[in-house]
Amino acid sequence: MEKALHEPASFITQADALLKKNIAYQKRRMKANIGIVLSPALLFIMIIILQGFIDKLTTAIDKATECPCDDRGMAINATFRETCATGIPNINPIMCRVRSPQKWPPLVQVPKPEFRAARSTYMPFNDLPDLCTKDNYSCPTAFLVTATNRSFAQGLMDNMFTALNSSQLMEAVQGQMPKNASAGTNVTSTLPTISDLALGTDNMDEKTDMFLEYSFLEGGPIYLLQQKCFKEVEYMIPLNIANQTIPQELKCIEGLMIWRDSSLNISNEIAQGFLGNGKLQANEITAAYDLSNSGIDKHNVTIWYNSTSQPDKAILRVPRTVNLVSNSYLKSVKGSRSKILLDFVKEMPQSIKTQLLKQDFGTLIGSMFFVFLMQLLLPVIINNIVYEKQQKLRIMMKMHGLGDAAYWIISYAYFLVISSLYLIVFMIFGTMSKMTMFRMNSYKVQFLFYFTHLNWQISFAMLASTFFSTVKTASVVAYTYIFGSGLAGQYILNPMLGTNSSEIQIILVELIPGFSLYRGLSEFSKYSTSGFEAGGYGLRWEDLRDSANGMRAVLIIMVAEWLLFLVVACFLDRPAGDGSGKASDSKRSKVLGKTFSRMDKLNSLIEMEGADIAAERNLVEQLAQHPDSRYTVVCESIVKVLKGRDGNPDKIAVKGLSLALPRAQCFGMLGPTGAGKTTLLNMFTGFSCPTSGTAYIGGMDIRTDMNLIYYSMGVCPQHDLLWETLTAREHLSFYGKLKNLKDEELNQAIEESLKSVNLLSVIDKQAGQYSGGMKRRLSVAISLIGDPQVVYLDEPSTGLDPASRQFLWNAITQAKRDRAIILTTHSMEEAEYLSDRLGIFVDGSLQCIGTSQELKAKYGGLFVLTITAQSNQDEQIESMVKEHFPKVRKTYHISGTQKFEMPKKGVKISSVFDLMEQAKKKLDITAWGLADTTLEDVFIKVARRANASVL
Ligand SMILES: *[C@@H]1O[C@H](CO)[C@@H](O)[C@H](O)[C@H]1NC(C)=O
Ligand SMILES: *[C@@H]1O[C@H](CO)[C@@H](O)[C@H](O)[C@H]1NC(C)=O
Ligand SMILES: *[C@@H]1O[C@H](CO)[C@@H](O)[C@H](O)[C@H]1NC(C)=O
Ligand SMILES: *[C@@H]1O[C@H](CO)[C@@H](O)[C@H](O)[C@H]1NC(C)=O
Repeated sequence: MEKALHEPASFITQADALLKKNIAYQKRRMKANIGIVLSPALLFIMIIILQGFIDKLTTAIDKATECPCDDRGMAINATFRETCATGIPNINPIMCRVRSPQKWPPLVQVPKPEFRAARSTYMPFNDLPDLCTKDNYSCPTAFLVTATNRSFAQGLMDNMFTALNSSQLMEAVQGQMPKNASAGTNVTSTLPTISDLALGTDNMDEKTDMFLEYSFLEGGPIYLLQQKCFKEVEYMIPLNIANQTIPQELKCIEGLMIWRDSSLNISNEIAQGFLGNGKLQANEITAAYDLSNSGIDKHNVTIWYNSTSQPDKAILRVPRTVNLVSNSYLKSVKGSRSKILLDFVKEMPQSIKTQLLKQDFGTLIGSMFFVFLMQLLLPVIINNIVYEKQQKLRIMMKMHGLGDAAYWIISYAYFLVISSLYLIVFMIFGTMSKMTMFRMNSYKVQFLFYFTHLNWQISFAMLASTFFSTVKTASVVAYTYIFGSGLAGQYILNPMLGTNSSEIQIILVELIPGFSLYRGLSEFSKYSTSGFEAGGYGLRWEDLRDSANGMRAVLIIMVAEWLLFLVVACFLDRPAGDGSGKASDSKRSKVLGKTFSRMDKLNSLIEMEGADIAAERNLVEQLAQHPDSRYTVVCESIVKVLKGRDGNPDKIAVKGLSLALPRAQCFGMLGPTGAGKTTLLNMFTGFSCPTSGTAYIGGMDIRTDMNLIYYSMGVCPQHDLLWETLTAREHLSFYGKLKNLKDEELNQAIEESLKSVNLLSVIDKQAGQYSGGMKRRLSVAISLIGDPQVVYLDEPSTGLDPASRQFLWNAITQAKRDRAIILTTHSMEEAEYLSDRLGIFVDGSLQCIGTSQELKAKYGGLFVLTITAQSNQDEQIESMVKEHFPKVRKTYHISGTQKFEMPKKGVKISSVFDLMEQAKKKLDITAWGLADTTLEDVFIKVARRANASVL
């Protein structure tokens, strides 16, 4: 009866089948899935607890730990009297609560002597100081001024520095200085006088953690800015710093006020000085004042000052620069008796908590932590994909008709669902942990960024998984990548962001996977930090338009890479993971095909062939000309050359095999291991392409129509490829749907097929609970579902107990009726029971082909006569046998027992019986037997002969 072929399952059907299977599968892995999704919650809860703990701790410490000295240098209690009275108080703010930080007179930031502005070829202004000796501290420090009313500005410029002549200055400072000023003297009253003076420093080291202007302690020198300097005098003045009277050396420096016509000129000049005409020697301006909006009735001044010199942690010395101009303004407007005094500056009082956790824990642990957290799913995804590849589940599904597109789309959807849930948990718990990074930045931008990243991550994982074939290596590499990318972000990208690296350089680095995530996170963290400090917002949607914002570039990079990775992953995808990519394979086959044809294959091969093989070849040649639909498998001198590895020469694994299998025939393929059976099956199942020749399955060419062939093909691999947590019904339902069975037809097929392998009673049990035999039978049932035209069974009954084996054999015999089956086995019993025809495959080619009787007749053709008698009669027996059967050959002899082989031709069994009856009368024969050759004998003989001819 002709059976109608099923239409190939549509993409939707395949996707639906895989989806249902995956849902069933993932449901049973619910705990693991929930664990994955909730893992960020766990981390955040830990952070929340830790943060609460640190809060409590620091509050407690804050209450308990006052700094030993107050701002007047007084010990807060008797214990610290000595600490506060001697030397410079060593306040370590990490250890104590700074209620009242030290005061110090504010300083002007002055350029270092060697950089101070002087007339030069690129700044040829007459009013700049002439070539002063820059290294001799003799250069004035220049200020630029502009205004709409020059005479008004001139008044301000004249009043800028307190003009003291040398004796006035001595008076001013010495009056306050006790005769022998030494440490610990109460001289707080010097401050009002000092605040009249414009003091400066050219220091720009990092601030110490002493809450103190370090220029006074060791950073010196302290400059006294004057209109004119009396160079012969150097001053020592007692400064009341940090409760100490520290005699300070003052160096006079000329503050040169220079008029400029417009603020544009000022800008240009500052920039020129900064660039130093491309030389290292800079020409720096101290500060510049734009009084364009000021007049007698209004004081509105714009001040330029150098802030680039200040690393984040240094003191920004601006207050005195502001005070100078304001004071001068007051004097010119109200007369010289009016002044604005700026007595001192000091840092904000700080508690331990504010010092330790300037913001919150999340910002403290930084972007690196979030890089880890955001990528935790990467190994999960890679492992998932690689697992299906490693366990060959992927190829198994493919061989039963699951298309790559359906596989990838459903897998992608699953990963995306898991990732999205992960993201939701991440955002909810992040917000709950009160981290500013979550609360300050717009949720819209956050969601967009994280969602883009997660998609990027899936496609990255898909790409990465094409390089791995085992879960172990994949895991190790993935986790290493996660930690590596966090650290690399911290130590490579982060420093680049701080410096003047060009945007192009940064973008190039961000192209490397992992860095874009770090950049995005650091952008969030940057915005939330500044938003937190300014009391405003973090990163908002509008900020994406800002050119200084790195987020937009990051998003574009991620989307571009996402697409690229998907395309490349599809291109590189090899479901089998056996290293023979399709593209390279077909190329190779062309090259090697030529080599092979040069070897004059037909001549050399056909000479060695027996008549049976030649007949099969003829049949195939006939079928090539007149295709016959009764033949399901037609294999036309198929050749496979395996590329030699590690310098070995190429190996011809299959040497021009021709074979024609009609429907309803089971072909048993026997052969020693390494004979090329697996290579042959690999070609039939689409694992690899033939080097030359081809095979037609149901009229379809394996080189071109493999995807169609999959729909009418069943495979029972040597090792059971099952999902431990799925039931037999779920397995068959999945594979049945791939074969385009539907509804009632599907249910019926499932039950029938399970009944035939006697598994109906355990239909809803998970495969993991099956015994080895049950799994084996389920595998066979899977291979048979959906009425495939051809089924490949690879050692179907290995490891089964006799009862199970019988069930299986019956099922296969039943199934054989309307399809072709190719069976490979090492069990001769199985081969004989199931196969209609047998072929022995040795060293890449069929040595013989035929029914088991034919083979036995041809290669066996012998009877084996075994005789056991008294050992002293051995010779008699031998001569007797030889007499009757001249062609006999003794093959075995051990004290009394002898074995003789004789060709069947010319031997009548009855004559052997007659002989033995007579012999028994004369001799002392204890036992005898006559046996026909078995298939095993044939196999051994053929294999041996073939090997001998090769060696
Ligand atoms: C310019 O400033 C001088 C002195 O400060 C003042 O007398 C004069 O009126 C000002 N001129 C204008 C046009 O404002
Ligand atoms: C230090 O001087 C201030 C102001 O002159 C005064 O109030 C204070 O008592 C003095 N302290 C000591 C220890 O002499
Ligand atoms: C001060 O001057 C700036 C321009 O330099 C101007 O934008 C601003 O409105 C002025 N402020 C006042 C209060 O006049
Ligand atoms: C600011 O100070 C730094 C450090 O001395 C210097 O390198 C830079 O050129 C200065 N910038 C300007 C505009 O003077």
